[in-house]
Amino acid sequence: MKAMKWLNPDVASLTPYEPGRPIEDVAREFGLDPAQISKLASNENPLGVSPKAKRAMRQALSGSYLYPDGGAFYLREKLAQRFAVKREQIVVGQGSNEIIELIAHAFMGPGKSIVASAHAFIVYKLIAKTFSTRLIEVPAKGLGHDLTAMRRAIDKDTSVVFVCNPNNPTGTMVRQRQVSQFMAAIPDDVLVVFDEAYAEIALGRMPDTLPYVHEGRNVILLRTFSKAYGLAGLRIGYGIGPQPIMEALQKPRQPFNVSRIAQEAALAALDDDAFVQRSRRLFRKAKRYLENVCKEMGLEYEPTFANFILIKVGKGKGAAVTQALMKRGVIVRPVAGYGLPDHIRVSFGTMPENERFVQAFKEVLPTA
Ligand SMILES: Cc1ncc(COP(=O)(O)O)c(C=O)c1O
Repeated sequence: MKAMKWLNPDVASLTPYEPGRPIEDVAREFGLDPAQISKLASNENPLGVSPKAKRAMRQALSGSYLYPDGGAFYLREKLAQRFAVKREQIVVGQGSNEIIELIAHAFMGPGKSIVASAHAFIVYKLIAKTFSTRLIEVPAKGLGHDLTAMRRAIDKDTSVVFVCNPNNPTGTMVRQRQVSQFMAAIPDDVLVVFDEAYAEIALGRMPDTLPYVHEGRNVILLRTFSKAYGLAGLRIGYGIGPQPIMEALQKPRQPFNVSRIAQEAALAALDDDAFVQRSRRLFRKAKRYLENVCKEMGLEYEPTFANFILIKVGKGKGAAVTQALMKRGVIVRPVAGYGLPDHIRVSFGTMPENERFVQAFKEVLPTA
């Protein structure tokens, strides 16, 4: 293909993001009944869609022949009230992933660098490469972020630092004291992105990062409707930050980036506290259950602050264990791409799904 000579070499060198395998795919490959498969691979909400959001989606269906409000006025208004900021300080995207991409459009590029932790959410790395931006990957402390080392790693070209909290795929959390020290010492021309995808369901006290927005610091907080509200399939998330920064993100945004149905669902989901509480109760129970199972099995695991757990299954065995579980209808995530070939990441399911995972896990582990 002659046109390939124009291909951006940074894009050519990318390995596409590998998502958790879809149920239908696995059913086909292993001749399984899709209804019998548990997908514990993408940190979704096993309780399904927030009921309030579902009702709103049905009502929004008939309006789908019209383009949505690209400015997401009502949703930004509601979020602004919730966080005591102005509407102009909120940007809504097709999942928080799109906000990460908007940050890249606005603040990355050749000659710039970003700082991120080893074993952090892989999209930062992919996006940096796509935008020909140098990645400064900082070794983790244990499996969590080392904020002191991350601050020290900032160089004269660093435009953005990503702090993933809790971090996917390790489930680790940086605490208030570490964040305060980090923010006290960060250069005043570096943008700090706190990716808080799991904030509403975090199994521990989240550092309070909103004051940095109120103080007009160089920060963006990323949130999503994919986890706590069960809307991963709709693709809707948002960023909060100081007005000039957020206005810069609006510029490269596609005109109608978030569907009408997604906007309506998100508006309703914000009122569904009962669903979020129920989700959190389940995740707390799942954490206790799976951490205990790991202890009983003598396996190393990372105490988790989110709706998934990272388990060490043996030297280089992550892929084999994943494959063996898949044959038994349980989809988990290998994490070699995150520099963790000895681990698997297991998203929390309903309790019967978690039990099913444990049963299959006990069968496959000795032979994998
Ligand atoms: C840390 C983190 N950030 C961002 C995302 C992207 O979420 P979404 O694009 O669905 O909002 C995820 C998804 O798993 C995540 O784990």
